[in-house]
Amino acid sequence: VELNFASDNSSGVHPSVLDALHNANSGYTLGYGLDLWTLQAHQVLRKQFGADAEIYLVWSGTAANVLGIKGVLMPHQSILCAETAHLYHDETGAPEAHLHAKLVPIQTHDGKLTVEMLEPHLVFRGDIHRTDPRVVSIAQSTEYGTLYTPAEIRTLADWCHAHRMLLHLDGARIANAAAALDVPLRAITTDAGVDLLSFGGTKNGLMGAEAVLYLRPGLADHFAYLHKQGMQLSSKMRYLSAQILAYFADDLWLHNARHANAMTARLAQAVGDVPGVSLTQAVAANAIFATLPPDAITALNRHAIFHTWDPLRHEVRWMTSWQTTPAEVDAFAAKIREIVPQFAA
Ligand SMILES: Cc1ncc(COP(=O)(O)O)c(C=O)c1O
Repeated sequence: VELNFASDNSSGVHPSVLDALHNANSGYTLGYGLDLWTLQAHQVLRKQFGADAEIYLVWSGTAANVLGIKGVLMPHQSILCAETAHLYHDETGAPEAHLHAKLVPIQTHDGKLTVEMLEPHLVFRGDIHRTDPRVVSIAQSTEYGTLYTPAEIRTLADWCHAHRMLLHLDGARIANAAAALDVPLRAITTDAGVDLLSFGGTKNGLMGAEAVLYLRPGLADHFAYLHKQGMQLSSKMRYLSAQILAYFADDLWLHNARHANAMTARLAQAVGDVPGVSLTQAVAANAIFATLPPDAITALNRHAIFHTWDPLRHEVRWMTSWQTTPAEVDAFAAKIREIVPQFAA
């Protein structure tokens, strides 16, 4: 068996999505989103996120994060985010390069921000020698696979709004979060006061389609220009939109996310008590974080592909996806049980 627990984007494209792409591939249509697939995809997304949502499809999650925030941020303003945020850590400086603005990283132990962590960053508000905090960016699920409850998001949103700020949610894994919490997508976005969403689908079975969603009117009326200037207005938009339509047909998004989460739960259950494996985060969605003896990582990597998340702490990340099978989980768990204890003190 080829064992790959590196990332949820190690997975392929769900067959229904490939079928939808094939079906969209007939005849002519207008470009740049003036096609029926895009009209319908927008309707489907508005059904999920509310009638007021303004929707712009893009190719990558980085583009959704950076361009979405660009629509609401001036260069003298700043973004408060967790130190572990993809936006801060894993986008090669795209936010800095395209926003010409400052990101302020905040230490957390589980990837989650709280109002108490944010408050100190307003102490110098109004001092023209400092940046003006404008956006709080959170991820759901977080980069540590942890979850915000709807109430926690609402608390952050209310705090933002009380301080003339906006709440951005990086939803690269929003499906996994909604599935794990067993709530509709809008319970952790629109209904919880989120202003701006990066909607992700690629990690959960799409070939490559994400979206910027402004969840309230009037936030970025000029964004249609940024969509094109930001090089994300696809001329053959129907192929992005067809993926979104397939994703919401028969709740594919939810089935895929539930499956990915269930595979992670199965793995956590099988290896949580193995000597030498120490889980470092609560297992809530489709990722496991654990420290292992360093030599155990090398030995295990001969049998399975996965990332070392923090080399200094010997912390690894194991991820599952819609494609992971129970047999793969069981084979990986067996390897972990066989190998890691040999290196445990
Ligand atoms: C939390 C988070 N946000 C956004 C992204 C989107 O990244 P990409 O630009 O690779 O689609 C990722 C992908 O790893 C992610 O983990």
